[in-house]
Order: sequence, then structure tokens, then C-alpha cells
Amino acid sequence: MGYTVAVVGATGAVGAEMLNILAERQFPADKVVALASSRSVGRDVSFGDQTLKVSNLEEFDFSEADIALFSAGGSISAEYGPKAAAAGAVVIDNSSFFRMHEDVPLIVPECNADAVAGYTKRNIIANPNCSTAQLVVALKPLHERAGIKRVVVSTYQSASGAGGSGMDELFNQTKGIFVNDEIEPDTFTKQIAFNVIPHIDVFMDDGSTKEEWKMVAETKKILDPKIKLTATCVRVPTFVGHAEAVNIELEKPLSADEARDLLREAPGLMVVDKREDGGYITPVECVGEYATYVSRVREDPTIDNGLNIWVVSDNLRKGAALNAVQIAEVLINRFLKKAA
Ligand code: A2P
Repeated sequence: MGYTVAVVGATGAVGAEMLNILAERQFPADKVVALASSRSVGRDVSFGDQTLKVSNLEEFDFSEADIALFSAGGSISAEYGPKAAAAGAVVIDNSSFFRMHEDVPLIVPECNADAVAGYTKRNIIANPNCSTAQLVVALKPLHERAGIKRVVVSTYQSASGAGGSGMDELFNQTKGIFVNDEIEPDTFTKQIAFNVIPHIDVFMDDGSTKEEWKMVAETKKILDPKIKLTATCVRVPTFVGHAEAVNIELEKPLSADEARDLLREAPGLMVVDKREDGGYITPVECVGEYATYVSRVREDPTIDNGLNIWVVSDNLRKGAALNAVQIAEVLINRFLKKAA
């Protein structure tokens, strides 16, 4: 007997990838339920070779589900996550709502799979922010080997990080610019086509944005509270795939060659680093892939034990849907036992 899995936000950019990845990885589900708002009831969504009819989240009885993957925004998670958990479904939540709650584990399986055990406190597990997920996969092996003191990261985040409406806005603005349409920002705060915007999520009191704060707080929770991190998060006009330029100060010396070898062996990572034209990965090349790619590995001679790397991953996959399904896999393989 397999599991019943509910996907909340099944009509969204991440929800669609959750369905794709459940099918691709042959997650042992007897039944997959696609849930969204009342607006989408009866719509078809793809699940592998099949299509599923979307049902209304408000009317779904979560006692029918073993696992509920949520990606419909923080307010939906806040309202329905605890209800689903109380009804007996283990909630794997992609919103930021529960991430920093002490009694909710925040998981990237390559980094802290054992911490999934903490799900029993609330029946909820949090998925990190997209830009954090790919970063910690790359930092983990370096931290284990040489101890990370400080990280300076600049992100180049695609429009899909703002959901389907972000991708639509980039597409429509790009087309519109060629016919002199007036630019009317909506999902983004300024023109996104042919532009970059140094602002993701709301501003905090100290002048950083919430996206930047998330990278700091979530890296500490997942990897090590001792790691100091400072981030500048920037929205760029790509559709899918986040890139990050990462400067790392280590406790111990680690050459670029050693780092490359280490990263090559680490789970979830692919190193493409040829030091020649095109010998690195760009966002369009990582779309639809599971791996987090590392390129441009080099020493930073301006500090002791300094390293620079370039990290690229599909933000809808490792940054969201893939990580959520990997958590579900850890859960069923190690914690939820279904009678055969
Ligand atoms: P719907 O299409 O019915 O609005 P994205 O992140 O790509 O913008 O997608 C957001 C997802 O969250 C969609 O699947 C959307 O469903 C879902 N969603 C938004 N508001 C609600 C709601 N009130 N109840 C259930 N699902 C919602």
C-alpha cells in the first residue's frame, strides 16, 4: 500500500514542479490530490502521464492524506498547515511561515536529514527559501572540511521565485518593450524586463530585505549558528534558475583544487569548472535539473583561507519542489512506516 499525498497550490509554479517530481521519482503514492483555491476547481493539472482534477483546498479532509506538500503562500500555510497536521497529515511546507519556529525542523536532506526526526513535535517540516537551499548544499562539504567563518553572497534570482505571476510579468514586459507599451510594474516593484532589482521581499529595520535575512537565519538553522553571513539579493530577468556569487572565509586553508574535489564528491552537487569560454553553468542550463551546479571555484587572495564559488540551481526544483519531495522521501524511508 502506498501513500496519499496532497499538493496544496497545485496550479502554481512550484506546485506544478511538485507534481512533476513526485511522478519522475516514482514516489510511492497510491493517490495524489491536487488542491488550490475555489477559482481553480475542476482545472486539469499534469501528473506524469495522467491529468488530475483540481479540488478545493477549503473542502479537503486532510485525514485522508499521509503527507501534504504546501506551496500556496504563507497565509495559506499559516491557516491550513496546522489543520492538516492536526488531522494526521505530515505537512512539508514551502512557505516561510514555519521555518524559524523552534519546534519545526528546517531541512535540506543533503545537510541535515537526521533533523527530520523533529517533525513529531508539530507534524510540520519546513522547506527553506530557494536561495538558501542551493547555497547550503554547496557550503556543507566546505564547512565540514575547513570550517566556514563568514560568507558574503550576492544572488541573481529569477522571476519564477515570485511565482507564476512573476514569470508572466517578465514575459509581458519583455514583449511590450518592443512595441513601446508603457511599463506597469505589479508583482515586481520596478521594471523587470532588461533590468535588475536589488529588492526581494519586504524591507527590515536594519535596511536589509527579508530575503537577505532569510538567507542568514536559515543558513544558521540548517548548517551552524556560528556561520556569519551577509547577503544582497537581486531579482534578474531570467525565468527559472537562481545564481549566486559566493565569497567564503574558512577557518583552515583549502586550495581551489581541494575544494573542487570535495564539491565533486558531495551529494546533490555537480562541478562544472573548466576555466575556458563556456566552461561554467548559467541559469538556463540548470532548468529541469536536480543538481546544484558549482563553477568558478577559485581562491580569494585578499583574505586568509578565502574561496570564491558560483552556485546555480533550478529554484523551482532544488529551491522548492525537489527539496520538498526529498524530505518526503526521508520521511517515508526512515520515519513513516506503511504496512506492506
Ligand atoms: P489558484 O491558482 O487557485 O489561485 P504561484 O506561487 O505560482 O503564484 O501559485 C500560487 C498557488 O497558490 C496556486 O496554486 C494558487 O491557486 C494557490 N493559492 C493561492 N491562494 C489560494 C487560496 N486562497 N486557497 C488555495 N490555494 C491558493
